[in-house]
Amino acid sequence: MNDTNYGLLQSQLIALLKDESDALANAANFVALLYNAMDDVNWLGIYVLRGEELVLGPFQGLPACVRIELGKGVCGMAAASGKTLRVPDVHAFPGHIVCDAASRSELVVPLVIGGRLAGVLDIDSPSADRFSESDQARVEAICADYCDLVAKSGFI
Ligand code: SME
Repeated sequence: MNDTNYGLLQSQLIALLKDESDALANAANFVALLYNAMDDVNWLGIYVLRGEELVLGPFQGLPACVRIELGKGVCGMAAASGKTLRVPDVHAFPGHIVCDAASRSELVVPLVIGGRLAGVLDIDSPSADRFSESDQARVEAICADYCDLVAKSGFI
């Protein structure tokens, strides 16, 4: 049952972040909030763009690979293209980088702040085809809210 209440999530995110300016605390709370609101997810976190590579940021789940080159893996490809990647079966995705062997499907949303790519949000599920088109649209919207909220106080 994948019945995330995205409306509630949005108001919780605004309440948590609106008066706080610490970038690390805000990123940590963003991923913790989302992870706990979504069913059937084994890993959720942020990769931050540092130069030409993505570097692991706050996350929930098992320890993961720290550095991903732009263009590599699902995260690097989403970052390089600036477009969300929704992968129903990671085993069928050429170049997928395995961090948690339990992951079967994945959703990666670029985080764009002030018109610039700042990183990506990566969500993994142990179920194939976990993320619907509607999940994608709602997660993109919540990422846009997060980017707006941290636009002034700064991103990690
Ligand atoms: N699977 C990702 C790597 C990150 S982990 O899933 C946490 C990828 O292919 O980019």
